[in-house]
Amino acid sequence: MPCRARPEGVTSGHHRKSEVHAGQGRPGLRELLAGPVAGCGHLPVVPMPSPGLLVLFGSQTGTAQDVSERLGREARRRRLDCRVQALDSYSVVNLINEPLVIFVCATTGQGDPPDNMKNFWRFIFRKNLPPTSLCQMDFAVLGLGDSSYAKFNFVAKKLHRRLLQLGGRALLPVCLGDDQHELGPDAAVDPWLHDLWGKVLGLYPVPLDLGTIPAGVPLPSKFTLHFLPAAPRVCSEGQRVAGTDPQGPPSERQPFLAAMVTNQRVTGPSHFQDVRLIEFDITGSGLSFAAGDVVLIQPENAASHTQRFCQVLGLDPDQNFTLLPREPGVPCPARLPQPCSVRHLVSHYLDIASVPRRSFFELLACLSPHELEREKLLHFSSPQGTVRLPAHGWSRPRRLPVGPHPPDPSAGLLHRLLSAGPVQVPLWVRPGGLTFPQTPGTPVIMVGPGTGVAPFRAAVQERVAQGQSGNVLFFGCRLRDQDFYWEAEWMELEGRGCLTLFTAFSREQERKVYVQHRLRELGPLVWELLDRQGAYFYLAGNAKCMPAAVSEALTSIFQEQGGLSGPDAATYLARLQRTLRFQSETWA
Ligand SMILES: NC(=O)c1ccc[n+]([C@@H]2O[C@H](COP(=O)([O-])OP(=O)(O)OC[C@H]3O[C@@H](n4cnc5c(N)ncnc54)[C@H](OP(=O)(O)O)[C@@H]3O)[C@@H](O)[C@H]2O)c1
Ligand SMILES: Cc1cc2nc3c(=O)[nH]c(=O)nc-3n(C[C@H](O)[C@H](O)[C@H](O)COP(=O)(O)O)c2cc1C
Repeated sequence: MPCRARPEGVTSGHHRKSEVHAGQGRPGLRELLAGPVAGCGHLPVVPMPSPGLLVLFGSQTGTAQDVSERLGREARRRRLDCRVQALDSYSVVNLINEPLVIFVCATTGQGDPPDNMKNFWRFIFRKNLPPTSLCQMDFAVLGLGDSSYAKFNFVAKKLHRRLLQLGGRALLPVCLGDDQHELGPDAAVDPWLHDLWGKVLGLYPVPLDLGTIPAGVPLPSKFTLHFLPAAPRVCSEGQRVAGTDPQGPPSERQPFLAAMVTNQRVTGPSHFQDVRLIEFDITGSGLSFAAGDVVLIQPENAASHTQRFCQVLGLDPDQNFTLLPREPGVPCPARLPQPCSVRHLVSHYLDIASVPRRSFFELLACLSPHELEREKLLHFSSPQGTVRLPAHGWSRPRRLPVGPHPPDPSAGLLHRLLSAGPVQVPLWVRPGGLTFPQTPGTPVIMVGPGTGVAPFRAAVQERVAQGQSGNVLFFGCRLRDQDFYWEAEWMELEGRGCLTLFTAFSREQERKVYVQHRLRELGPLVWELLDRQGAYFYLAGNAKCMPAAVSEALTSIFQEQGGLSGPDAATYLARLQRTLRFQSETWA
């Protein structure tokens, strides 16, 4: 990949004038270096080094990483040297030397940073960092979030402010990608990227003799793949069996191979959703967890899919290879063993059954030898093409391939889980997003329609075991006899006086009845618990319309029962959110 020398000296005095930066006017490393050249009217004697665009991401479920890799490709098309790295794998002390950094950050939990930027987050908010620490840096922050959450894009907004405090110059206002938009985050990301490249190319214009690399022309790959002639023993991924080599708790890098103990369908036999309660034996794993934590399992493609994939592409599944980065500083994919077999790559590493993202079509277009096909693929990789995807049988990517959808009997892990025989599953645990009050006697109101009730089952079990009363659950499902999860358990707890349950069966009458309708009906109780007894309020489930409808129900309760005005009711709700007495965990 040809890298452009930084054209600072060539155009300084021209492009610098057109820049609009927060904090403009302070000399940074760039000005100090460019100083003697600027204004002299001559071409530079010494070419400046490559600007070295750096893209750093914090991603919990992969979206921010995908956007970052797209940024990397777009930069390379503009002849910019570009590195893309997870924030915590970047040595943060080097940030003081970076001239141009794009941060791509998701927000998770209740306005929290993703796991792979937690160390960076702690570092960047250290109180003793001088306010000029990043005065050499031009930066931009691209946020990914969901406006159904109280702390919408909190991480990106807070990071943007902090980078300004540390002397960085913002190229653009922070981008607020939103899952709630009908086009998803791309609705905000696409125009923002357009503006970003305008700014960046103002600083580092593409030399006329090089020009940009058009879409559809393949970029040089980041890695070279070497097939090995012989077949040395290929280790499988770092899976750990109970009792061996304990190096901290199991993690994505080193999952625990847990035996499945039970696998029970919790929806009625004729119901259209197949929802399962699965229990694993984690004896000896070193795993610890709290109520509401999330178990993550490493998926695997079905052997038949893997075989078919290799067949179509003419690959020998038993062939081994090694992967080498083409440029220094480019890390190899962390979970890929070296050497690796094609079979392992396809079955464990490639997501061959997923709904393709836009970036997939963009890559495919580069590989297609047919012009018409290439055009079509490029169209699919464009914002306009995305809208049309459903007509071709695709939609926006789904977050979890294993969920209460009709099961694809040939799907890998699900198939293994559904078939009898001893099954072992590689897993690890991530902290959940909800925290429950420890002060005895604090009531909790939990609203969990559908599978959203999962974290509340754990919380109720724990609170009951601790002798905590004041457990109020609003549960909604479609039909009492089909998807009323853990009905018997709730009834038993109610009978013992440990739980107050309110149900909304949406499809048992002509008009839909949802949890928010029940909340409104029980307004006096809800107000009493929240306002007089200091209850905590929790919401979990589908992000689409339910969270907004529940918030609306709450603000009307505050007005009707508490006599608050509209704006005061909104402030009341905002205060509950700020003090974590209103928490939510929702998914798109
Ligand atoms: N549980 C998890 O950990 C998890 C994680 C990620 C993704 N998911 C996905 O999330 C989805 C959840 O499916 P689900 O069946 O459990 O829950 P759901 O689709 O939210 O349905 C549960 C109940 O909520 C009702 N409902 C529909 N619209 C509503 C609204 N605007 N306000 C309030 N209630 C409303 C539904 O009624 P009607 O259908 O009759 O309208 C139904 O009675 C699945 O696609 C699943 O794959 C779950
Ligand atoms: C459990 C969970 C918690 C979330 N919390 C927030 C939040 O507090 N604020 C927000 O704006 N978005 C929140 N989101 C939405 C994500 O930020 C959004 O889906 C983003 O695209 C995820 O990016 P990633 O795939 O790179 O992690 C949350 C999503 C999930 C699944």
